[in-house]
Amino acid sequence: MPEMQHEILHLSNVSRNFGGLRALRDVSISVSKGEVLGLIGPNGAGKTTLVNTVCGVTPASAGVVTFDGRDITRVKTYQAARLGLSRTFQIVQPFAEFSALDNVAAAALFSQPGESWKSARLEARTHLAFVGLEAQADQCAATLTLAMRKRLELAKALAMKPKLLFLDEVNAGLNSIEVERATKLIHQLAARGITIVMIEHLMKVVLNVCTRIAVLHNGELIADGAPRDVIKNQAVVDAYLGQQYAQRNAARG
Ligand SMILES: Nc1ncnc2c1ncn2[C@@H]1O[C@H](COP(=O)(O)OP(=O)(O)OP(=O)(O)O)[C@@H](O)[C@H]1O
Ligand SMILES: [Mg+2]
Repeated sequence: MPEMQHEILHLSNVSRNFGGLRALRDVSISVSKGEVLGLIGPNGAGKTTLVNTVCGVTPASAGVVTFDGRDITRVKTYQAARLGLSRTFQIVQPFAEFSALDNVAAAALFSQPGESWKSARLEARTHLAFVGLEAQADQCAATLTLAMRKRLELAKALAMKPKLLFLDEVNAGLNSIEVERATKLIHQLAARGITIVMIEHLMKVVLNVCTRIAVLHNGELIADGAPRDVIKNQAVVDAYLGQQYAQRNAARG
């Protein structure tokens, strides 16, 4: 029997201004429990701003955000995190001098302040194992490769025990083998029942993992629907996909 689609996140007419710049314009979107939503659009479209707005980094200038039935429009970042909203950063930012293990343990402690350092580190090992960084547990984060730091970012996000996980370009800068590996991890997370909103420029990955796609352009939501419909949408082709394919062809020379 198909499960009922319960809404977990809802943005209602959300705008975010930076001075005179309208980075998000009247965005209304809903995310259901368990889905993997792809958030795409050109550079500067407002994708990261949407994540920052939901997570309390740059709160909405107007509109309402609800998560798990609760109004979170004005919550602080740590409150959003403790409610079950977790995210990876487009620009990875580990504590550079901490070991990989301690970076993840710190995230675990942050989400459960009462936990002991010892049990946080124990838990951190399981997250590191999941992302394939067991062997690097004691290595200083600064010495990890970009692909490893991206996976560390994922382990940190998981240590926060998210109900909803935002992935902000976890594949950017990775080679095709690393992308394949990360894609497999995302599938496994979805299988665990974690709701995922992923910002991703690689359409191959988006089409492989996303059950739905939303498209931002100049801060506006210009499409939202089934992948097969969205990629044929003329406004999406004009605003983004045409440019993507043109860029890819240009890169091929
Ligand atoms: N903290 C900020 N202060 C001022 N302007 C900002 C801030 N954050 C984002 N912007 C601006 O808002 C717009 C949307 O930026 P955002 O980072 O959300 O785009 P994006 O869709 O994530 O792009 P990309 O694909 O390049 O990561 C851009 O014009 C950006 O310069
Ligand atoms: Mg971005």
